[in-house]
Amino acid sequence: MIYTNNIKKIIMRRTYFLSLIASFFLLTSCSLSTKKEFIINDINIIPKPLETILNKGSFTFDKNTKIVLSSASQKTIASDFIQQLKISSGIDIAISEKEESTQNVIIFKKDTALTKEAYLFTSTSDKITIKAKDDAGFLYGMQTLKQLLPTEFEASSLQKDMEWSIPNVEIKDKPRFGWRGLMLDVSRHFFDKEYVLKTIDRLAAHKMNVLHLHLIDDQGWRIEIKKYPKLTDVGAWRADKEDLHWNTRNIKRPSDSIKYGGFYTQTDIKEIVAYAKTKQITVIPEIELPAHVTSAVAAYPHLSCKNEHIEVPSGGVWPITDIYCPGKESTFDFLEDVLSEVMALFPSKYIHIGGDEATKTFWKTCTHCKKKMRKEGLKEVDELQSYFVKRIEKFINSKDRKLVGWDEILEGGLAPDATVMSWRGFKGGLEAAKEGHDVVMTPGDYCYVNLYQGPYDVEPIAQGGYLPLNKVYQFDPVHESMTPKEATHVLGGQANLWSEFVSTNSHSEYMIFPRLAAMSEALWSEKKHKNWEDFSTRLMQQFKRYKSQGINYSESSFLISGDTKVDLEKKTISLILKNEFPITDIRYVINSED
Ligand code: ACM
Ligand code: ZN
Repeated sequence: MIYTNNIKKIIMRRTYFLSLIASFFLLTSCSLSTKKEFIINDINIIPKPLETILNKGSFTFDKNTKIVLSSASQKTIASDFIQQLKISSGIDIAISEKEESTQNVIIFKKDTALTKEAYLFTSTSDKITIKAKDDAGFLYGMQTLKQLLPTEFEASSLQKDMEWSIPNVEIKDKPRFGWRGLMLDVSRHFFDKEYVLKTIDRLAAHKMNVLHLHLIDDQGWRIEIKKYPKLTDVGAWRADKEDLHWNTRNIKRPSDSIKYGGFYTQTDIKEIVAYAKTKQITVIPEIELPAHVTSAVAAYPHLSCKNEHIEVPSGGVWPITDIYCPGKESTFDFLEDVLSEVMALFPSKYIHIGGDEATKTFWKTCTHCKKKMRKEGLKEVDELQSYFVKRIEKFINSKDRKLVGWDEILEGGLAPDATVMSWRGFKGGLEAAKEGHDVVMTPGDYCYVNLYQGPYDVEPIAQGGYLPLNKVYQFDPVHESMTPKEATHVLGGQANLWSEFVSTNSHSEYMIFPRLAAMSEALWSEKKHKNWEDFSTRLMQQFKRYKSQGINYSESSFLISGDTKVDLEKKTISLILKNEFPITDIRYVINSED
């Protein structure tokens, strides 16, 4: 096991009980009478920057500090910081049009020699300079500034007796991957616009840049489509069976008429996309096809092979057989209409078309599907799915966008320009990269934050399977078996939160944080700089930031688990206590029964 540093081994006799108390070191905040001298351990930036040099001295904010911008587009980035500084420190700093003084200023300087999203951050006792080529670089420089300040910066009320200083540093930073994402499943449970906007802030704080919205699934259609109002009138609502386990909801009860659901209007979507842009986040819509669309079929039954009335299910559906019929041209007309409205709302280069977990039983017997297969010379239903995806890709490409889909889109032949999101391990991603396709790695074992993160018996209900924080941290989107050429096709990775078992904002936060911190470092920081112990130490400060921001983060990594080892020869039982952090103390008390 990797957590050996503080593991205490105890020989336990039959007559002893153990009661266990876990605690952790809280790094002490400074006393304020003299100017603080910073040490390297005071720098707790997540994700870890490429290079950090600590110099002597510090920069202190006061009411005369000014921010000097190099273009109007940086104003929102600066204003965000100014607003938060005012809330927690009471210091109200201003934006200055020109560099009137070289003292007590934060200067944004355009540097076209830097790469996309990169920044250089230099602080001296006189000034802070942030250099970047683009607004993303300036945003990330400011996120770094926030994390150099005391964690109380994030508080929602005035913090008294604080010194608002940062160490003098030189930080060079840039991301390892261009796709650093989080997927929110807003179908299985609906999360409102306000929560999505908050999530965007939090992604930006972690220097993440993709929010993938899983807008469609069997249990709910979550985006207004003007041409097909029943998608949301019917498809966004289901019988409320929230009191039942997800997989036992297929019984009918008198109380079932109460509706559960919701959807984003097109106005909501515009607001989400526009807000995300200010945080340098691309929102990628997922419009599932051909399966995971029971909600659409419930609204428009003719979209399926059977053309029979079905209801939006309230819980788990397996296998997923009520899927779109690719034998009918009207299915493609519908999807092109839907995608046209979607592409008008989302300016993202990528449009996600799902593609996963289609059980094509009905395609085998459907007269329309059989006719289509004959006409197109397709032997298997997998080839029919491939035909389906290729046609949709052509349409998406015709609008100057790119198709991305789950790794099932490999089956029956990959569409020519498709990007593969590899979720069933790395396998699909490896195969696609070998064929010269771009891939986004999101293998369930490392990236599915809907899995348990602590012992099953104490955690809130989750999807079966275990994904502790340190496993997320180990995630490397470039698989060891890849050649350098194949590795160039890895765009990055993302964490996915499927929401079958997650119905509230606070539970969603609990599943995402702190695993998002580990994911951000896996996707941003250089592989050679990754160090679990170092990350754990920095994470203790991140927890304080989460607390100040009111995020319901999980502390499951502190939970102690015990392994027992029986030695029959010595007649002993060893109890090995551990949690995820090498830096924590594990304390125990041994009580005698007599
Ligand atoms: C998936 O988890 N079905 C992509
Ligand atoms: Zn059909």
